[in-house]
Amino acid sequence: TTIVFRQPDGSERLIEAEAGTSVMQAAILNGVEGIVGECGGSAMCATCHVHVEEGADGLDAIGDTESEMLDCTASPRDACSRLSCQLFAGQVERIAVRVPERQV
Ligand code: FES
Repeated sequence: TTIVFRQPDGSERLIEAEAGTSVMQAAILNGVEGIVGECGGSAMCATCHVHVEEGADGLDAIGDTESEMLDCTASPRDACSRLSCQLFAGQVERIAVRVPERQV
């Protein structure tokens, strides 16, 4: 899966991730700014918040825990908000996410 990370300043990073890798993990492994992932991917911290701009159709629906955590994000939640640790390469061929202004 190709993951596109878009920063608030408009810059983009493209990363190829193996199926099963979460979008959060791909960001951390590749030093993408603005994704913290404090809880390590357990949907318990909301510091991996992203806005999905492309590829949302193929993703699993938002889970209950994820939705609760999305109410606690540092930057405002919108209709495209997801926790990137709950999005996995392999679910879609390409996904583009916008990194929010802040995570804490
Ligand atoms: Fe903590 Fe995603 S890494 S909620």
